[in-house]
Amino acid sequence: MQKKTIHLEFTEVDSQDELSKEDNLLVQKSIEASQSSYSPYSHFHVGAAVLLDNGAVVVGNNQENAAYPSSLCAERVALFHAAATNPQAEVETIAIYAFSDNDDIDVEVTPCGACRQAMMEYENRSGKKIRVIMKMSNKKFLIAESVKSLLPLSFDGNHLKK
Ligand code: THU
Repeated sequence: MQKKTIHLEFTEVDSQDELSKEDNLLVQKSIEASQSSYSPYSHFHVGAAVLLDNGAVVVGNNQENAAYPSSLCAERVALFHAAATNPQAEVETIAIYAFSDNDDIDVEVTPCGACRQAMMEYENRSGKKIRVIMKMSNKKFLIAESVKSLLPLSFDGNHLKK
């Protein structure tokens, strides 16, 4: 028996101003997208902005439903929108932003497991790492250099090959 360790590497950025110009713009788009989310049940508004290798930025936000499980997270709305409208393009970066109607709470948004799985599909499809920019509390941002790093020991299409 042998214990193994998996390291998770990410960059912590103290404020939005410290992001590169390109990342800052993408975060800005995710903030704008969060403002038009449809989240009447959770009051938790999430926006995502996807930068594609053709330069396009495709946004999405969480879409809730009275039948709760029928809702979809912002990340998947953005990614599926991007893939549906730009089928040849590869995803380079996704920025995710969230705020709560309760202004007292400085929310952070690390993508749920299902969204990580969906993001990883596109990383595997292109063979190129997707950067994930996440809004943390205290105005900080975290940047993961790949989806794989956020989803170790994951299940993917290789498991289905004959
Ligand atoms: N949500 C997202 O859109 N993305 C995340 O990364 C976390 C959660 C949404 C789903 C639901 O509409 C609300 O936030 C509360 O869970």
